[in-house]
Amino acid sequence: MSTLFRTKSVEQSIRDTEEPEHALRKSLSALDLTVFGVGVIIGTGIFVLTGKVAKETAGPATALAFVAAGIVCALAALCYAEFASTVPVAGSAYTFSYASLGELVAWIIGWDLVLEFALGTAVVAVGWSGYVRSLMDNIGWTMPEALSGPDVADGFGFDILAFALVLVLTVILVLGMKLSARVTTVVVAVKIAVVLIVIIAGLFFIEAANYKPFVPDAEPQPSGSGLDAPLVQLIFGYEPTNFGVMGIFTAASIVFFAFIGFDVVATAAEETKLPQRDMPRGILASLLICTLLYVAVSIVVTGMQHYSELSVSAPLADAFKAAGHPFYAGVISFGAAVGLTTVCLILLLGQTRVFFAMSRDGLLPRFFSKTHPRFGTPYRPTVLLGVIIAVVAGLTSINELATLVNIGTLFAFVVVALGVIVLRRTRPDLHRAFRTPWVPLIPVLSVAASVWLMLNLPAETWLRFGIWMVLGVVIYFVYGRRNSTMAKAAEADRAER
Ligand code: ALA
Repeated sequence: MSTLFRTKSVEQSIRDTEEPEHALRKSLSALDLTVFGVGVIIGTGIFVLTGKVAKETAGPATALAFVAAGIVCALAALCYAEFASTVPVAGSAYTFSYASLGELVAWIIGWDLVLEFALGTAVVAVGWSGYVRSLMDNIGWTMPEALSGPDVADGFGFDILAFALVLVLTVILVLGMKLSARVTTVVVAVKIAVVLIVIIAGLFFIEAANYKPFVPDAEPQPSGSGLDAPLVQLIFGYEPTNFGVMGIFTAASIVFFAFIGFDVVATAAEETKLPQRDMPRGILASLLICTLLYVAVSIVVTGMQHYSELSVSAPLADAFKAAGHPFYAGVISFGAAVGLTTVCLILLLGQTRVFFAMSRDGLLPRFFSKTHPRFGTPYRPTVLLGVIIAVVAGLTSINELATLVNIGTLFAFVVVALGVIVLRRTRPDLHRAFRTPWVPLIPVLSVAASVWLMLNLPAETWLRFGIWMVLGVVIYFVYGRRNSTMAKAAEADRAER
């Protein structure tokens, strides 16, 4: 039993990163991290999901859903920041939990992060491909349905653009951090410019009547009481509804996707020059900037068009078309397409870094943690996962994947918040450059808030998540438990005695 809870000491985690052939280059500053954060956070969530959520779940109160999701993330960010500044090692929540909650929990969270980042990458790639196709349509090129993906095609559809995007980004990552950070900076600038255009230009087209009612009355869900209803409504025996006050929380559990990514910033801790100082700054700054932009965008867009008329595939651009300004719409579509590439890139990066850390610890084969002799990047997991994700992106529809990504991420938040409390007890001596305020109150609130959003996700999402996690536990008991470096060290210890 005790092996399940063996922890890897923080000192050991840091020492491992210093083995030359397993080391990543340290080159990032707080500003790089903030750019990184904003680069991954603003994406499909605001560009695509806002329209769907406003139209079907919350109306103009979507802005409140963004506030609610933002609060959940801010609480989690305060916990992430302490962990990341105390354990500055690749692998994010995975590494943090290895140092505090033990190997089994670490494995579970690592497995969970694989789900979050891999499917997140696929979701964003598919969203990107939709915008690119819409731009291509503008200039008269139409992609055959069979190559436009399962969401568009009647029969079999393969999303060739999403597939190609993931492969190209994989190559960029193999070539090294430096290149991807530079590309990221330019693209992030374009993306923020587009978001600001939406907010500022959009202000002139707002009609106050569109805000009435701000919180539309609750209505029964069209598809009734099936597995697609939020779990919380099923548990408490409510008739599942859209809109109303409950609708705001359902909406929050979906637009939560728009905030995913600040936790990815923590995965770059090992590549940060001064992680103790820069990591918390990077995480909190990027989160704050995004929350402000999201609330502004959703207020403007639901003011430009009545929520019931918003488009679900390209709501920001289409609101301008509806207002008679196709030029703005074109610029926005272009910026969205450009911007989504960085989101995809950084999620893919986070994914490979988690996998790298798990392999370095022997929970996955060590083969994957040899870095490239010239580029210093973990090229083996990058290539393997890049190819798998590219295929998944080509073959899968985005809606169901997004909620699965959300539940996985919220679960990681819960573990990290508990980890902060545990590590304060077990290792009070550690230097914490950033300390979460009011422990245990903030971590406890963070757990409660994350669980609340999870409960607002559909029952079927819980089911799929459960299956993935059970699979992970089986793999741990079959492989990781015996092969982890901690297990090997314990074995060597026994042999000596
Ligand atoms: N937050 C990212 C997005 O909205 C994942 O696309």
